Amino acid sequence: MKWHTFDRADALSEHAADVFLKAIQSNPRVVLGLPTGRSPIGMYERVVSQCAREYRCFRDVTTFNLDEYAGVPREHPGSYCTYMKQHLFDHVDLDPKNTHIPDGMADDLDAECARYEQAIKDAGGLDLTFLGLGRNGHIGFNEPGTPFDARTRVVELTPSTRAANAEFFSGEDVPSRAITMGIGTILSSRAIVLIASGRGKVDAIERLQSHRIDRAFPASALWNHPKVTVLWTAAATPPL
Ligand code: GLP
Repeated sequence: MKWHTFDRADALSEHAADVFLKAIQSNPRVVLGLPTGRSPIGMYERVVSQCAREYRCFRDVTTFNLDEYAGVPREHPGSYCTYMKQHLFDHVDLDPKNTHIPDGMADDLDAECARYEQAIKDAGGLDLTFLGLGRNGHIGFNEPGTPFDARTRVVELTPSTRAANAEFFSGEDVPSRAITMGIGTILSSRAIVLIASGRGKVDAIERLQSHRIDRAFPASALWNHPKVTVLWTAAATPPL
């Protein structure tokens, strides 16, 4: 596991955007796993501005988001679909048929999870996956206790995760369930970049640095992967 610690959030975002764009430059058909949350926003901003300025970069890129809330319509302001449109999809030349987000409104959520897992396989697997980090160590929506070989499935969200995401639901109840790629799905990505920012993540980062591999701390599964880079800053992330 490689670690890069930054003094400022913008330096972290710059570095993350560089990794993102270099992956596309070296393989224009790259398959990316993408996160949501506050931490990657600066990365997306820089990717969007570079792409607009320099080249039409996303034409043959495929993306798979890590997760989506269950029972939240795509156009809801709190959905990850809305987030991705706002921060990336509406601003680059990604072909909509190559962007994938689990359908949290599917009638049969288990069938949707199986379909999603198969779609990743059909695309040739994930080449590079960016992750955020929950305060309790969750990756995607894989909460503490998740088996490290879990695949895409429906999960219950912990009260702390729901509280951390309350601001995206302005007064409405945060959904209690979500679809997430499993830890096993994430670990099958050929390379992984974890992005974490803000003082609220200090404990989680220290726990990850301790190298204790423990199901009670999902991000520790990343120690079982040969190609993980952690980009970390204690500096606060700009508000949404
Ligand atoms: C949500 C997402 C996670 C993300 C986490 C951290 O729970 N499902 O994938 O890693 O938020 O987000 P933030 O960067 O806002 O702390």
